[in-house]
Amino acid sequence: MSELNNKNILLGVTGGIAAYKSAILARRLIDSGATVRVVMTQGAQAFIQPMTFQALTGNPVHTSLLDAEAEAAMGHIELARWADLILIAPASANTLARLAHGLADDLLGTLCLATDAPLYVAPAMNRLMWAHAATVHNCQTLRSRGVNFIEPAVGAQACGETGSGRLPEPEDIRDQLIGMLQGVNAGQAPANGEQSMGKPLNSQHLLITAGPTQEAIDPVRYISNKSSGKMGFAIAEAAVNLGAKVTLIAGPVSLSCSESIKRIDVVTAEQMHNAALKTAKDSDVFISVAAVSDYRLEKIEDKKIKKNDEQMQLTLIRNPDILKSVSEMEDRPFCVGFAAETNNVREHALGKLERKSLDMIAANHVAQANNPVFGSDTNALDVYWAGNEGHTHIASANKSVVAHALLELVAQRLATNVLSSAANNAAATTSSSDPA
Ligand code: C5P
Repeated sequence: MSELNNKNILLGVTGGIAAYKSAILARRLIDSGATVRVVMTQGAQAFIQPMTFQALTGNPVHTSLLDAEAEAAMGHIELARWADLILIAPASANTLARLAHGLADDLLGTLCLATDAPLYVAPAMNRLMWAHAATVHNCQTLRSRGVNFIEPAVGAQACGETGSGRLPEPEDIRDQLIGMLQGVNAGQAPANGEQSMGKPLNSQHLLITAGPTQEAIDPVRYISNKSSGKMGFAIAEAAVNLGAKVTLIAGPVSLSCSESIKRIDVVTAEQMHNAALKTAKDSDVFISVAAVSDYRLEKIEDKKIKKNDEQMQLTLIRNPDILKSVSEMEDRPFCVGFAAETNNVREHALGKLERKSLDMIAANHVAQANNPVFGSDTNALDVYWAGNEGHTHIASANKSVVAHALLELVAQRLATNVLSSAANNAAATTSSSDPA
C-alpha cells in the first residue's frame, strides 16, 4: 500500500484506554507509506509509553511544550510546519474541548493552532461522554471550523458499557483517512472549512415516518395510539447531524423540528402511505418509526354518534402496511423497521424483518415498568439485520443518543452493502468484541 507515500503525519495520542490502538495505527500509517511523528499528551503517557512509538516510528516522541532540549532538536513551530496533516487518535473528550476553545498550554494544543495542515480527529470515550451536550457542542464547533471527524464506532467499551464511542480499529482509521484524503484530492470537496467532514451519512437522503396516525370515527372521535413521535424526531435530528438530507413524515404530534428537515404533516395512515411512497423513490434509507394504526373505520360517520345503545359495533378495515409497500418497491431504499413488542421481542422482531423484507429492525420492549417507551425521553433498542448476521444492543439512554447509535449502525450496514456489492461477494462483517 502506498496511498500515504510522502505524507508527513503528526499522530496525536491523548489520554484514553484506546491509546493502545494508536501503536498499531502508527504501524499501519507507516505501512501505507507515511512518515509518522508522535505527539503524546500527559494523559496518554499514563496508558502507553513514548518508547513504544519511538521504536515503531523510528522518530523521537514529542511530549512537552516547555522542554529546551526537545525545542532545540525540532521546535514546535518547525514540527507544525513539518506536518502535512495532524491525526489525533484517540481524541479524548478533554482534547476535543481544549481544541474547541483553542487552548495552547500543552504541545498538542499549540501545534494544532500553529499549523495550517488539515486536522483529523478520531474521538473515543464512554458513550455518555460522547453524547454529552458539552461534547456535542464542542464537536459542532470543530466541524464548523473544518476539522475532519473519523466517527467513533458502536460496540463494547472498556468501561463495560455498550454504545457509541469506541475507537474504530486502526485499519479502519487508516482506510477512512485515505478515503477522505482522496475525496479532497479529487476535488470532491472544497477546502477551508467547507471540505467533506467525513460524516457517516453525508449525501444520503433519509425518509423517516414518526408519531401515531389518527383514524376518525366521527367528527369528534378517533382511533390512535400512545406514540409521542419523540424517537422518530430524534432520529431525524440525528440524521441531519450526521450529514443526511432528511424528509420527516409526521403524524399528529406536538413536536417541532429543525428547519433543515423537510417536514410533511399527515393525520391518517393512508395519507402517510401516499406521502411515503412518493418520497421513497428518491430516498436512500427509509426508517419507519411511526406507530401506524393497523385498522381504520370502514365508514366515518358525518355526525357525532349518540350514545343511545348499550353496545356499539364499529367495523374496521386494514390499513396499508407502509413499510412493506416501500420494501416491495423495485428500486427500494435501505429499509429499517421498528418493532414495539410486549413479549418475545427477538422472535417477533426477526419475524417482521423477514415478513416485511427489511434490511434492519430495531426492537424495543414496551412492557417494562421502568421503560414505558411511549412518551418517554429514553429508550433502549435491540437491533437485528438481514441474513441473521448480527445483533447489537443499544443500552438505555436519551432518545437522541440512541438515535445516533442506530444511525451509525445504519451507516455501517450501508457501507458494508456498498463494499460487498462492489466486490460481488456477500462477506459478512461481525463487530469485534475487543474493549475500547
Ligand atoms: O407489523 P407491525 O405494525 O408490528 O410493524 C411495525 C413496523 O411496521 C414499524 O416500523 C411501523 O412503522 C411499520 N408499519 C407501517 N405501516 C403499518 C403498520 C406498521 O409502516 N400499517
